[in-house]
Amino acid sequence: MKILSIETSCDETAIALLECFGGLIAPKFKILKDAVASQIAIHQPFGGVVPNLAKREHIKNLPVLFRQLFGDETSAAKVMKTIDLIAVTSGPGLEPALWTGINFAKDLAKKYRKPLVGANHLEGHLYSFLLAEKRGAIYQVSNLKKVFPGIGLIVSGGHTTLLLLKDLKTRKKLGETRDDAVGEAFDKVARILNLPYPGGPEIQKLAPKGNPNAIPFPRPMVHDKNYDFSYSGLKTSVLYYLRDNPDTSKADLAASFQEAALDVLVRKAMRAVGEFNAKSILLSGGVAANKPLRQKLAREAKKSGIPFLVAEFKHNTDNAVMIAIAAYVNFLKNKKYPLVANGAMNIK
Ligand code: KG4
Ligand code: ZN
Repeated sequence: MKILSIETSCDETAIALLECFGGLIAPKFKILKDAVASQIAIHQPFGGVVPNLAKREHIKNLPVLFRQLFGDETSAAKVMKTIDLIAVTSGPGLEPALWTGINFAKDLAKKYRKPLVGANHLEGHLYSFLLAEKRGAIYQVSNLKKVFPGIGLIVSGGHTTLLLLKDLKTRKKLGETRDDAVGEAFDKVARILNLPYPGGPEIQKLAPKGNPNAIPFPRPMVHDKNYDFSYSGLKTSVLYYLRDNPDTSKADLAASFQEAALDVLVRKAMRAVGEFNAKSILLSGGVAANKPLRQKLAREAKKSGIPFLVAEFKHNTDNAVMIAIAAYVNFLKNKKYPLVANGAMNIK
């Protein structure tokens, strides 16, 4: 099954084309096209994503990316003939940005008379673990059955969510953040430290120059029995610490903040592994691009004798490949998302 996918929920315009096969038991993916146009440079002067600027850039970028990938009208028509399904992110995200993708996808579906479905960005992140292993040109998790039940951890700019996956059909949300997402905390702390947007990679870069144990920042909710998270207080702790100790090294602040933020994620994920006797850890979302987080989870997974699955860096930050994967899984499950932007869409 050939799926063309479009992602415009935030500040990346992305289009991909995947060959998907193998079904829910042994899904396999061949990435035929995969392009992302990042708007980071546009939003950087504002210290965050400006929704209307994002919308303007998506409108500008979508036809350019499409042409880059599929060539002129004649060659694009040839490729489009072979496509079985078009999928577009319908939420969560910035609604003006989401609509640009939906409208572009609607035009394509009409022009080439193809079926079109909405996709959940968070399911895209979650299922990106299916890209964790590759043989030749084919992505496939070998012996997928052995991965379940798995603990899925989605860590992005908008979400921090822990899930129990029984298989690709059945899952249960264990907990999520009650206020800020962990990526948001990285971005806000970076701002406090006068580092550019997006802050996650900047904090990661600065942290090795500091001492992660220099400042004992709180580990919010780490001892709570539930699987919820809270990151707003941690960010405020950094702000107050710097206010009261203005001479503290930025590197120590970055390292200590990162340590506290990741510590909670790892400890809660591992507690869930224990409680539910999980057979794997499945990490996803923009913050999954954080190397220390990957190292910590990999180490803990090894200690527990279970696999740790995560896609390569570029498929953790926003992309369209993961949207095609979510669309494939939902197609097999006969689950459809409406073609209406839903900024507050969540994952169950
Ligand atoms: O998934 P994503 O690309 O967009 C959303 O769906 O939100 O995640 C973006 C978030 C931003 O908060 C960014 O700072 C964070 O992911 N991020 C990182 C790293 N790379 C991206 N956070 C920590 N370390 C990184 N290396
Ligand atoms: Zn995302």
